[in-house]
Amino acid sequence: MDVLILTTSPNDDGLTAACAAAAAEGVLQAGGQSETICLNRLDIGRCDACDDGWGTCRQEHYCQVSDDFQALHERVNNADAYVFVTPVYYGEMSESAKAFADRLRRCEATLQDASHLAGKPIIAVAAAGGSGNGMITCLLSMERWIEHVRARKWDLIPVNRWSRDYKLTAIRSAAQALVADSAG
Ligand SMILES: Cc1cc2nc3c(=O)[nH]c(=O)nc-3n(C[C@H](O)[C@H](O)[C@H](O)COP(=O)(O)O)c2cc1C
Repeated sequence: MDVLILTTSPNDDGLTAACAAAAAEGVLQAGGQSETICLNRLDIGRCDACDDGWGTCRQEHYCQVSDDFQALHERVNNADAYVFVTPVYYGEMSESAKAFADRLRRCEATLQDASHLAGKPIIAVAAAGGSGNGMITCLLSMERWIEHVRARKWDLIPVNRWSRDYKLTAIRSAAQALVADSAG
């Protein structure tokens, strides 16, 4: 099983990166393969809301804003499962997560059941800081996004500074279970 792990924090050694590393360990332990891509290292701008807001992607399922999105879109389409990790910023996804999620949703949600993500399992992780405020609102918008692209909600995991140790264990186990389920 090919699991694509998307991280969306500028910090290489922060909580988001630790969550991604735990997920990668779980995938490997269960005999799957993973690739981790940090969206902050890519050039992915915001949706242009072209075509009077409707977007040419509504018909073409391809984004006309030419940047790193197109290659990532293809990589996403070809993966079997996903782990999507965002830091919690103001109770929401990070900016790089949002830019990607917005554009992918426009291309794929309009395919409905033919979405390239339809039925594929996804683990969403919201990594917060000291207050832990907004973990749930962040996951709520991730959940809605998962529904729009018709993926399968495998798990939605909030984590913050003080739950870090046991949540990293949970993320590792969730990734392991996800791969094991597909093999069985
Ligand atoms: C702009 C900004 C907004 C943030 N908003 C929240 C928040 O609403 N709730 C929270 O618990 N932490 C918040 N934090 C803290 C981050 O979620 C926390 O530091 C997280 O670990 C960042 O991920 P990283 O370690 O991968 O950088 C915020 C941090 C930044 C930079």
